[in-house]
Amino acid sequence: MAEYVVEFGKDGGRIEPDGRLDAAAFHRNHEPIWAVLQKHLAGKSGDVLEAGSGTGQHVVSFARLAPDIVWWPSDFNEQHLKSIAAWRAHAGLPNIRPPLRIDLSDPDWRPELQDGSGPQPLLALFCANVIHIAPWRVAEGLFAGAGRYLRSDGRLFLYGPFKRDGKHTAISNAVFDSSLREGNPEWGVRDIADLEKLASGVGLTLRETAEMPANNQILVFGRS
Ligand SMILES: C[S@@+](CC[C@H](N)C(=O)[O-])C[C@H]1O[C@@H](n2cnc3c(N)ncnc32)[C@H](O)[C@@H]1O
Repeated sequence: MAEYVVEFGKDGGRIEPDGRLDAAAFHRNHEPIWAVLQKHLAGKSGDVLEAGSGTGQHVVSFARLAPDIVWWPSDFNEQHLKSIAAWRAHAGLPNIRPPLRIDLSDPDWRPELQDGSGPQPLLALFCANVIHIAPWRVAEGLFAGAGRYLRSDGRLFLYGPFKRDGKHTAISNAVFDSSLREGNPEWGVRDIADLEKLASGVGLTLRETAEMPANNQILVFGRS
């Protein structure tokens, strides 16, 4: 279940003295995720925003692999923001910006630091394991922001478990979906068709669906 924790540090995982949290799933999924992202990002430069960064480990790993890209982590959970900042300091990479406080449930969220600075129109927006552990308005907010901030060749990468045509792609995802909904009726594994509707409302279309380990997928959206 580590893949699906909502609040790292309260799941019994390791917490370093500087606040760095560790997500067990990160160690399993960061390489397959990067294999998809790098196909779209290779040879490009610009700003990539991660929404719901959690521990901050993905941004550190990707920033190391793509030094020409500026990486902007974000979250809305205080402990996670602290962990992201600690991972950033620990990595000491010049291409990771301080974490932005972004609540995706605010349809008008803006990617800005307190001094008003922020990323340029985005080369990509990356979001892993967030929209099923959150109310539907978080998915709506994510797509609204993608519509506002992606540049013309920009991509929205969405990683997690998804339903296809109303059906789960694996029994384990169906079980997981039930447990999510039991814990919070507003949560649940989302259907790709519903996400495509959100996408079309903001001028995006689904460009690629990539199978990932553990019955997860990456959905890649771009401007229509
Ligand atoms: C399961 S964790 C995934 C973290 C990270 N992306 C990963 O894959 O390891 C879900 C993350 O979504 C964040 N989150 C939940 N609701 C959010 C919201 N409304 N706005 C921004 N982040 C949110 C949580 O704080 C948490 O960091």
